Amino acid sequence: MKGEYRQKAAKAARTAVLLLGVAVLCACKQPPDERVTTQASAEERGLAAIRQAGCGACHEIAGIDWPRGRAGPSLMGFDDRTPIAGVLPNTPANLAAFIRNAPAAVPGSTMPPMPVTEREARDIAAYLYSRPDN
Ligand code: HEC
Repeated sequence: MKGEYRQKAAKAARTAVLLLGVAVLCACKQPPDERVTTQASAEERGLAAIRQAGCGACHEIAGIDWPRGRAGPSLMGFDDRTPIAGVLPNTPANLAAFIRNAPAAVPGSTMPPMPVTEREARDIAAYLYSRPDN
């Protein structure tokens, strides 16, 4: 009787060790989505930043269904040819600077400074340039 109990206990212990091993293996395996999140492209991060900053409140923007504000010009079909706000040479650096602080980049601009980081502004610029045909 005692021997049988010990055998059962030993078996339970082995099972526990096995389960622990499986659990550790599972824990090490990357969740399927992680790769996508951490290596999101600049454009993907840009779209997320646009959503977060609420640019859609004043602009019509590709990929943002709501809101589609009208206080600012539509950004559909924004490309690198037309000067930014009609005056600023259209380069990625100028666009990022304008997005962060429009009145500083273009004195008299009526777009308010936006609470985005430099990197977010660059990502947003990448997103806007990547949607020339919308
Ligand atoms: C409160 C309203 C408002 C918000 C919010 C806003 N904008 Fe603007 N935006 C404007 C206005 C108004 C203009 C026109 C300003 C000018 O011509 O100087 C403008 C102009 C622009 C332009 C230049 C467009 C062109 O055709 O040259 C870009 C690019 C732009 N905004 C991007 C953004 C981005 C990106 C965000 C979010 C981070 C944003 N805006 C948030 C009001 C807004």
